Amino acid sequence: MKKYKLIGPITQVLTMESLSVKGAIKDEQLPILENAGILIEGNKIRSIGNFSELKEKADIPNVEIIELHADHVCVPGFIDAHTHICFSGSRARDYAMRNAGKSYLEIAEAGGGIWDTVTQTRKTDQQELTLGIIKRANTLLKTGITTIEVKSGYGLSVKEELKMLRAIKNANIGTEADLIATCLAGHMLPKDFDGNHNEYLEAMGNTLFPILKEENLTNRIDAFIEKSAFMPSDIYPYFKKAKAMGFDITVHADQFSVGGSEVAVKMKAKSADHLEASTEDEIEMLAKSDVISVALPGASIGLGCSFTPARKILDAGGALAIASDWNPGSAPMGDLLTQACILGTFEKLSNSEVLAGITFRAAKALNLNDRGVLSEGMLADFNLFQTDHYNEIFYKQGKLVPNQVWKQGDLVSQ
Ligand code: NIG
Ligand code: FE
Repeated sequence: MKKYKLIGPITQVLTMESLSVKGAIKDEQLPILENAGILIEGNKIRSIGNFSELKEKADIPNVEIIELHADHVCVPGFIDAHTHICFSGSRARDYAMRNAGKSYLEIAEAGGGIWDTVTQTRKTDQQELTLGIIKRANTLLKTGITTIEVKSGYGLSVKEELKMLRAIKNANIGTEADLIATCLAGHMLPKDFDGNHNEYLEAMGNTLFPILKEENLTNRIDAFIEKSAFMPSDIYPYFKKAKAMGFDITVHADQFSVGGSEVAVKMKAKSADHLEASTEDEIEMLAKSDVISVALPGASIGLGCSFTPARKILDAGGALAIASDWNPGSAPMGDLLTQACILGTFEKLSNSEVLAGITFRAAKALNLNDRGVLSEGMLADFNLFQTDHYNEIFYKQGKLVPNQVWKQGDLVSQ
């Protein structure tokens, strides 16, 4: 096998290099290389530059040259920084009831809601869960998503949360996409727990956290802060324990009411996700912090609720990532690019802001520094779209899919 691969000529490469993690981005600021080539060594980018020059300089016996014979636009591999793709069962009935005007309570009383998925997921064995994750991850990979965060949170007991996180760890071996696991044992108080919210979280922290470390299952702890789930006062001791053990924190915050983003800022979380209910105060607070705000348009579309105030977050100087929240309840679509484009139209985001939200800003939300930007030394994760201008990608609102997906230096989908 040859040591290097050289791909080109590529009409436009959007490197996303040297753009700020925070604040608005105008399309004029986009770093674009034209007629470019990407030289890959192993799983990393060795260099990017003018294709003809790279070809001239190339140590030919050691380089496999992959010539493109049509216009292509290259962007970093997309990163979906918030999903719940480890689950079993369908909540199509919830969706129908919601659209027929039934309330959250009526749906829960009819056996729907998160608890329904917990029941279905608990009935499914680990191997079957793994196969489900691989299938969904590969669907995402075909649309250019090369890194996928996956949460537990439908187990809600030590044994069942471990089953989910072990399923995610095993699924990582079965897909070319990178799966980043997060423990969401703090999703809701399980109906069968004999104790209050505090006691449940304390039990999880004491028993589950050490095993997560021992088995290297995740380094991220998430919780849903909402009246129907956990209050900030429940969550502080839980997050403090997690931080003391070296876990990163992420929060389901301000989805229906405020409170979660303040916890995220105070706990120096990596991200605060949802934020549909955030007001000027929360937006300001987030913008002043290093917490990445993650919009989840798939949940707004799935629930028929308002979008996260993405424009206001960016204009206040905040950092905005965009993720799919793919889950069987609130966000069943599971199509990041489509949802990010739709958020862009409703929130008046520039194409650059949309792209930043699913590349380097999403990488930041996951605390990953080796991807999301195309430059020397970064992972060779990128997508090639057969078109002559990047505007076409956003204009087609997810219907233009990459015709080549490269993950860690290999062509994994075409
Ligand atoms: O991110 N908000 C809480 N959790 C999920 C929904 C999970 C479900 O409904 O199953 C979310 O939207
Ligand atoms: Fe979620």
